[in-house]
Amino acid sequence: MNIDLTETWLLGDVEIPGRLVLAPMAGVSVQAFRRQGRRYGAGLVCSEMVSVAGIQHGNERTLGYLRVASDEHPLAIQIFGSDPAAMAEATRMVAAAGADIVDINFGCPVRKVTKTGAGASMLADPDQACRLVEAVAGASPLPVSVKMRRGVENGSRACLELGPRLVAAGARSLTLHPRSAKQMYTGTADHSLTAELVSLVDVPVIASGDVTSRARAQTVLATTGAAAVMVGRAAQGNPWALREIMGDETEPTREEVVAELLLFMRETVRELGEHRSFGFLKKFYGWYLGRGRFPRAFKQELVQLPTLAEVEQRLLAAAPGARFVLERLLDEAPDPQDEVLLDSLPISLYGGG
Ligand SMILES: Cc1cc2nc3c(=O)[nH]c(=O)nc-3n(C[C@H](O)[C@H](O)[C@H](O)COP(=O)(O)O)c2cc1C
Repeated sequence: MNIDLTETWLLGDVEIPGRLVLAPMAGVSVQAFRRQGRRYGAGLVCSEMVSVAGIQHGNERTLGYLRVASDEHPLAIQIFGSDPAAMAEATRMVAAAGADIVDINFGCPVRKVTKTGAGASMLADPDQACRLVEAVAGASPLPVSVKMRRGVENGSRACLELGPRLVAAGARSLTLHPRSAKQMYTGTADHSLTAELVSLVDVPVIASGDVTSRARAQTVLATTGAAAVMVGRAAQGNPWALREIMGDETEPTREEVVAELLLFMRETVRELGEHRSFGFLKKFYGWYLGRGRFPRAFKQELVQLPTLAEVEQRLLAAAPGARFVLERLLDEAPDPQDEVLLDSLPISLYGGG
């Protein structure tokens, strides 16, 4: 079995240069993560779920999620909400922000989201789910996609009934993570449902869940007929998993690992500011430095350092050659000024218009 993952496919009218998609992950999918994903072979990247209510209220942190850099395209921005009119308004903002695709979240199982009638709760309310997709598709100059789970309850097959209806309502692609909302991340993703969904709809389906290697990606693509596979947890602090899935098995050197982490830290500080980045970055130390790359105690040491400058120094002391790799990465990166700044968005974004 040898499926070509570099093949281009169409999501609506957007060309996706490859059959590997980087998953949206709340608390992870910052710009630095998405850019890195593109560099390491993802044909499409996605923002984390963005609250429509937050956009409506001009919440500064929420609006920050709408920042798009020039080297991220094609990029989907994912929104979640429960009110069709607010979803439509947010869709216009997402398009103005420079996204290529608007993705709707019907998969989030977290109670804080489902109790508002958003996320995975939509899997149990197909009529409302269709109304939301219609509202977004009606407002969107961009193709609309939907990401969902198999259903709310264990063993549910709700996605198979809902999927075709969402397509009729205007979805140009469906991503399926075939676990139930109840399951959260336990058990395994049952991609036999993905295969069934593919046979029921005439839009590309993206298969999400437990794709961690090239072998697994090939099997999922071959057995489901999906247009692409989506990779989430395996890529956390590990862009080399994406490279391996695309066919390059080279293991990163310690210097490369440290250089990518340092670049990630710097870009995150630029995006979130020093204060927010300090806590945000802690989970990434283990993700980058684990997998047998550095001793466990090293990560423990980093999370206890009081400033990011000290973390950076300590990392460079552990792998001095990383400095040169980092210089090369910085040279290759586009000018950060290229990104669409919030100032250029419609004034109503700030709730003041
Ligand atoms: C930390 C974390 C945050 C996530 N946040 C989102 C999200 O914002 N939107 C979404 O559609 N899925 C989200 N997911 C689900 C992933 O996109 C993906 O469907 C799931 O992790 C299964 O894929 P994997 O086995 O490759 O990780 C999240 C998953 C994780 C682990």
